[in-house]
Amino acid sequence: MISFFTNKPLFKIAAAAMLVLPLGNAVAQTQPDAKMNVFVSGLMKKMTIDEKIGQLNLVTSGMAITGSVTNNGVDNGIAKGQIGGIFGLYGVENVRKAQDLAVKNSRLHIPLIFGLDVIHGHRTIFPIPLGMSATWDLDIIQRSAHIAAKEATAEGLNWVFSPMVDIARDARWGRISEGSGEDPWLGGKIAGAMVKGYQGTSLKNADAVMACVKHFALYGGAEAGREYNTVDMSRLQMYQDYLPPYRAAVDVGAGSIMSSFNTVDGIPSTGNKWLLTDLLRKQWGFKGFVVSDYTSLSEMSNHGLGDLPQVSALALKAGLDMDMVAEGFLNTLKKSLQQGKVTQAEIDLACRRVLEAKYKLGLFDNPYKSLNAENEKKDVFTEENRKAARLAAEHSFVLLKNANQILPLKKSGGTIAVVGPLADNKRDMLGTWVIAGEWQKSVSVLEGIKHVVGDNVKLVYAKGANITDDTEFMKRLNFGPGMVSLDSRSPDDMIEEAVKAAKKADIVVAVVGESQSMSGESSSRSDIDVPESQKNMLKALAKLGKPMVIVLFNGRPLTLTWENENAAAILDVWAPGTEAGNAIAEVLFGNYNPSGKLTTTFPRTVGQIPIYYNHKNTGRPYNDGPTKFKSNYLDISNDPLFPFGYGLSYTSFGYSDVKLSKTNLKGAETLTATVTVTNKGAYAGEEVVQLYISDPVASISRSVKELKDFKKLNLQAGEAKEVSFTITPEQLKFYNSQLKYDWEPGEFIIQIGTNSADTRSAKVQWKK
Ligand code: BGC
Repeated sequence: MISFFTNKPLFKIAAAAMLVLPLGNAVAQTQPDAKMNVFVSGLMKKMTIDEKIGQLNLVTSGMAITGSVTNNGVDNGIAKGQIGGIFGLYGVENVRKAQDLAVKNSRLHIPLIFGLDVIHGHRTIFPIPLGMSATWDLDIIQRSAHIAAKEATAEGLNWVFSPMVDIARDARWGRISEGSGEDPWLGGKIAGAMVKGYQGTSLKNADAVMACVKHFALYGGAEAGREYNTVDMSRLQMYQDYLPPYRAAVDVGAGSIMSSFNTVDGIPSTGNKWLLTDLLRKQWGFKGFVVSDYTSLSEMSNHGLGDLPQVSALALKAGLDMDMVAEGFLNTLKKSLQQGKVTQAEIDLACRRVLEAKYKLGLFDNPYKSLNAENEKKDVFTEENRKAARLAAEHSFVLLKNANQILPLKKSGGTIAVVGPLADNKRDMLGTWVIAGEWQKSVSVLEGIKHVVGDNVKLVYAKGANITDDTEFMKRLNFGPGMVSLDSRSPDDMIEEAVKAAKKADIVVAVVGESQSMSGESSSRSDIDVPESQKNMLKALAKLGKPMVIVLFNGRPLTLTWENENAAAILDVWAPGTEAGNAIAEVLFGNYNPSGKLTTTFPRTVGQIPIYYNHKNTGRPYNDGPTKFKSNYLDISNDPLFPFGYGLSYTSFGYSDVKLSKTNLKGAETLTATVTVTNKGAYAGEEVVQLYISDPVASISRSVKELKDFKKLNLQAGEAKEVSFTITPEQLKFYNSQLKYDWEPGEFIIQIGTNSADTRSAKVQWKK
């Protein structure tokens, strides 16, 4: 038997546009059609119960390990029809061998589906999703997913475990890096763009992959930001704030969805009938299939729901179709059927949904659909893809501070000290989910700066600090080989070297923050400061009194109070991907004027978490005046350090008052709200103009404001443009206490501005 399922782990973080790709708005059709029904029914008539259960079994190949358990005997299992799909295996040769086993050696020749965690690019790595969301640019986001699909299919894949659409309000949670931040409406738009980018106009296209929306549901609500922790929230909050992005992905036709590790209303998602059947299928009309997360089926036992046979039966009955890695379905369902604990119809339904996915992907027509060694060579990691990744990265950076217009830096003359453990570093450029990305191919910040300034600026470099000096923390970060290491020099010597370099320079560029494994899965932190080793370096540099520009790497909001007080400028670059250094240099030296805006609130201190812009007013809101008996803290302001929607530019934008087409409306009338935005500075720039609406009186306590729309403008220096938003009652709707989605008449405050905390407003009365 061929055995190519090596146990050579590449690990999740081993570590790949855009321009002229057609971006159809139509999305792959996922409705079952009559031909498909006939085909699948015909096939199922020939299948034994074992073969049907086999289709529900998803195994990992051992090539890329993304959990703590792996499967054995995979090649044998494929030939015996015990495996429906494989994940973690890619490369035309590898995939062809596995597909051959299924198509040639199994009794019914049913092709396998091949999945992978392609999250922010496949070979060409784009910014982490939190960074991508900061672009507020749905075209860039959709194209990035399309490029990832093209690269993934070129390596034999047809299914990606993305987009992750979990709303998160807690920066301690490491997976905040993998989502689009805290806003449900924006999250929904991004989810839709990602699904469209992956699935294209037809799943049958050679460059389309089936999306897998995750983690259904509410995974980002983990208590205390601790990974895999309990989630418990009201239905109202679910519907209003956490479920919309999953729904948006389903609405544009996502082909599959992944159940989450957590409980929802006390029942693990993977076995939650209300979630997987009543809500997902009956209320939302989802027609695809549901896969569990990695062993989340067997983990239901740890949740206290019973032994493996029991939880497997429960999950099947709840609406789970495919079991990832746990082999609970494979090893228990037949017996449960004999014992009457599950029905034939339940097994058939799950099997049908998996076969339908393969049918929709065109795998029955051609199981080798995208297995083309030529494409594998020419379609991955192309110059064009890298350009797209660079463009996305440039748009994702958020300028948090820029005192005295210290940025952009001059491209000639003077000396710049480039310091910090992330400056001459390729490994940490890529971010969290980069299985097929190769960090060796990424561009470091120092390289990028040299590309832009050549010999025109003198550069002095010093590492200045370890990522961390804490050896216990280091051990936890090093779950892959060589991810974080200690320099042979002492911390003091390293700082001394950085200080020496800085003394020779006119400006210091300090490249600091989180390394790759500090955020992402299983990377919760209770302290979200810049690590102490790096902060010590920054403090020593600050004493020199030279202007210091911080280039900040982070997979989550960090607490930056000290940095904000002591640095002249802070450019937040998240983890920008393959083209990191080039994109950063383009922005630092003004070839691109930053336009990113935060999609997640930055707290002043970890004690303010959870902190988010669309909070409730409370009965004792604190605005200003006496503080006693108000909703506030004794020791810190309620305000975040940087609010949702915030981000500066090298220019500045002025907003006029909001003009409304009417102030009294009735029923389905339409309102137009207009502002004039003026570029008041010396640079051309882009501005994300944001529309928020408040509903101050309603039958339930509403959020103080909610994002409802945005427009991205490009303005030349001195130019002014009118921006209009069309508002209909649709945007006034919310879930009431009966979970009915509707709007209530009364006063609404229309707010337009540059971020959630800085808006101009006008009031309307809207009658039913
Ligand atoms: C993660 C998922 C991922 C899966 C497969 C799990 O641990 O939660 O996001 O898709 O592993 O790698």
